[in-house]
Amino acid sequence: MSMRTNYCGLTTEDLLGQSVSLCGWVHRRRDHGGVIFIDLRDREGLVQVVCDPDRPEMFKVAESVRNEFCLRITGVVRNRPDGTINTNLKSGKVEVLCHELEVLNASVTPPFQLDDENLSETTRLTHRVLDLRRPQMQNNLRLRYKVAMEVRKFLDANGFIDIETPMLTKSTPEGARDYLVPSRVNAGNFFALPQSPQLFKQLLMVANFDRYYQITKCFRDEDLRADRQPEFTQIDCETSFMSEQEIRDMFEGMIRGVFKNTLNIDLPNPFPVMDFAEAMGLYGSDKPDMRVKLQFTELTDVMKDVDFKVFSNAANMPNGRVVGLLIPGGGSMPRSEIDAYDQFVRIYGAKGLAYIKVNDKAAGRDGLQAPIVKNLHDAALAQILERTGAKDGDLIFFGADKAKIVNDAIGALRVKVGHSEFGKANGLFEDVWKPLWVIDFPMFEHDEENNRWTAVHHPFTAPKDGHEDLMESDPGKCIAKAYDMVLNGWELGGGSVRIHRADVQSKVFRALNIGAEEAQLKFGFLLDALQYGAPPHGGLAFGLDRIVTMMTGAESIRDVIAFPKTQRAQCLLTQAPSEVDEKQLKELHIRLRATEAKVV
Ligand code: AMO
Ligand code: AMP
Repeated sequence: MSMRTNYCGLTTEDLLGQSVSLCGWVHRRRDHGGVIFIDLRDREGLVQVVCDPDRPEMFKVAESVRNEFCLRITGVVRNRPDGTINTNLKSGKVEVLCHELEVLNASVTPPFQLDDENLSETTRLTHRVLDLRRPQMQNNLRLRYKVAMEVRKFLDANGFIDIETPMLTKSTPEGARDYLVPSRVNAGNFFALPQSPQLFKQLLMVANFDRYYQITKCFRDEDLRADRQPEFTQIDCETSFMSEQEIRDMFEGMIRGVFKNTLNIDLPNPFPVMDFAEAMGLYGSDKPDMRVKLQFTELTDVMKDVDFKVFSNAANMPNGRVVGLLIPGGGSMPRSEIDAYDQFVRIYGAKGLAYIKVNDKAAGRDGLQAPIVKNLHDAALAQILERTGAKDGDLIFFGADKAKIVNDAIGALRVKVGHSEFGKANGLFEDVWKPLWVIDFPMFEHDEENNRWTAVHHPFTAPKDGHEDLMESDPGKCIAKAYDMVLNGWELGGGSVRIHRADVQSKVFRALNIGAEEAQLKFGFLLDALQYGAPPHGGLAFGLDRIVTMMTGAESIRDVIAFPKTQRAQCLLTQAPSEVDEKQLKELHIRLRATEAKVV
């Protein structure tokens, strides 16, 4: 008989009366006055193993086993007695009467119960191996695998081929800080780990591979959040000879297929498309969560001459903005909740959160409740009511500041109210999958601090047709052929049509104030390649970790990565990063600064 004939979790009534050998871990052992029950776990789930004392040798071993012991048992599958069927388990109608029991390996006492729901993430990451044995983590990583398989199947069927690109490479332009690797043989020189395969995939297009993909690690040394890891996985794609629309259609089809074939979810067909300006205008975000049924109302123009200085100052600032956020039914919101939102928006730099309760519209200004009402003239009040469409019983929040602060603060407030108990009770949140494309991003954004233009996507993104000259004359108005796919408020992926002509590329560098010499030094290999009849090309990259996180409903992308880093970019399992020997440093020609070597 082979070591294992069946999986524990797949032992069902189909096997009734059969002799089976199962291998797995002791999930739980229960001593029921003379009979020992062992819930044996493998990757497919649990099965109940019954150990009777009438096989004394086996029974003795059964008495000695503890949680997480690794066992092999041989026995016969039989029906569970009436009343003991467990409908939660695939194997719940049967049990295995144990004939032989072999301890393949004992286990020390685990530091926690695997089914403990309240484990801290520190505990879980420190004892990741045990954490990974938990069904939730098993499911997450299996789903991740399925998603990757579906992606590969789709791309293969569409003529994309997987080509690896270097990990030890040169700094790329995604804009985060690089992870550097010192070179031993080239004293004083460093490789950068790739922030993405961006430039290599463009080279592959010039090299006539036509359709490329790679599911690959990218490395970015940036501030970490729930949806960010220092090393993460991209589904990175590039194609030649396809228009922006064709590229979007292709990859929308891929994502729809992935959701359908893994979770049987039908995403809308086609995805809605929204341009960047509209997204910022209505939601204050380039990745709006469309499940939330709330929108901004633009009020900047009507607040220029009101007495309330907070509003008029913001409305007259060069980069100022005043918006309202109508909360239907919000009139019933208790003061404590409004105060909590006032505190919440301050996280995003807002200095306050003005609001008006609409008690009785017909009563004019007397029907509006708020200290700020007396400082707003009739025309402004009329515009607020008309533009928001407020009804009796509604509430309107206001944000007034630099546009960035208003967008961040009121954008976050919109999501917060939508997801709150109040939002759910008042139909402000629709619990469905809401994908969309955000397109027509600006080419450049102005970096106030350094008074220069920077690329919104990356410097190889093509301008929209007819916008080439704007790069010089009015960079702020120049729109890019760039697009992001957004799902439920998360950016799943993004890409662009690239520049394939050296003259256009030079214009972009000029707009970015990157001199010819600097461009040659940093990206010379790309510029050279563009000279050899580079084809029109473009592509995009999806964050695999993010896609799977959304699909599992996990709170953080750490839950869909086998061995992730903490928010402080540490691996609690291996204790990386760690100090290295003086000898290693010496070989790498590195001397640590005394004060910084020990910083923790
Ligand atoms: P971008 O920088 O937008 O584009 O990255 C593409 C996608 O990768 C995911 N992502 C991340 N996931 C987890 N942790 C991170 N730190 C992280 N950073 C990014 C996001 C994002 O949408 N080369 C271009 C793509 C292209 O133009 O083809 C690029 O890297 O889901
Ligand atoms: P004040 O005149 O400072 O008492 O503010 C009146 C109201 O305006 C209060 O509800 C403040 O929370 C709110 N407020 C103050 N600054 C801002 C701002 N920048 N945007 C929106 N509301 C604000």
